[in-house]
Amino acid sequence: MNTIVRNVSVEPAITATDFRNAMRHLTGGVAVITAGRGREISGMTVTSVSSLSVDPPSLIVSINRAASSYQLIKRRGMFGVNILTADQLDIAERFTGKGGLKGAERFAGAEWTTRASGVPLLVGALSAIDCEVEETIERHSHAIVIGRVLDVVASRRTAALAYWHGEYVAIDKEEDAARLAEVSLPSRHVHARGPR
Ligand SMILES: Cc1cc2nc3c(=O)[nH]c(=O)nc-3n(C[C@H](O)[C@H](O)[C@H](O)COP(=O)(O)O)c2cc1C
Repeated sequence: MNTIVRNVSVEPAITATDFRNAMRHLTGGVAVITAGRGREISGMTVTSVSSLSVDPPSLIVSINRAASSYQLIKRRGMFGVNILTADQLDIAERFTGKGGLKGAERFAGAEWTTRASGVPLLVGALSAIDCEVEETIERHSHAIVIGRVLDVVASRRTAALAYWHGEYVAIDKEEDAARLAEVSLPSRHVHARGPR
């Protein structure tokens, strides 16, 4: 007789605070999603960008369906991902809508350019990635937006802006690389000494 026994355990439901506290440990690279064209432009700060595939080049970002930029992205079918440098902290804050800034007001003082999609791409970002929406999956409060990469604008800067435990953190490839090497795995030290 084939009997499948399932151990069903009833776990207490986790609270939003439990979940937030768990996710605070995940370090996120800070990016600004830009959308629209002409006078109708907007953008928002995110940490949820992730690479999806290299071939074809594509990425995903999780966007709150209530965010004003989401409507622009849906309507125009285009968006930009601007990976911020450590010295763009003020831009990161502006694009959260701090102080009630809306739409084009968030771009005040920032320089931008455009590529194939026509969305604003921030000059000075570590990379600015021009994307076309391939698919949007609406789930719960958010939408997972899949972007097909149309173009990439890269800079030579090395210091990235990250978000960890509710705070912005600067990570510099030049300055922090040596410190990180000191605490890296022993196998790296073996490799660093060269072949025996
Ligand atoms: C560090 C940080 C990361 C954020 N990451 C996201 C994100 O990944 N997705 C998202 O929908 N909102 C995220 N937000 C919130 C948006 O920036 C904010 O809701 C949005 O700018 C509000 O735009 P609106 O006023 O145009 O609706 C983040 C905020 C901060 C401070």
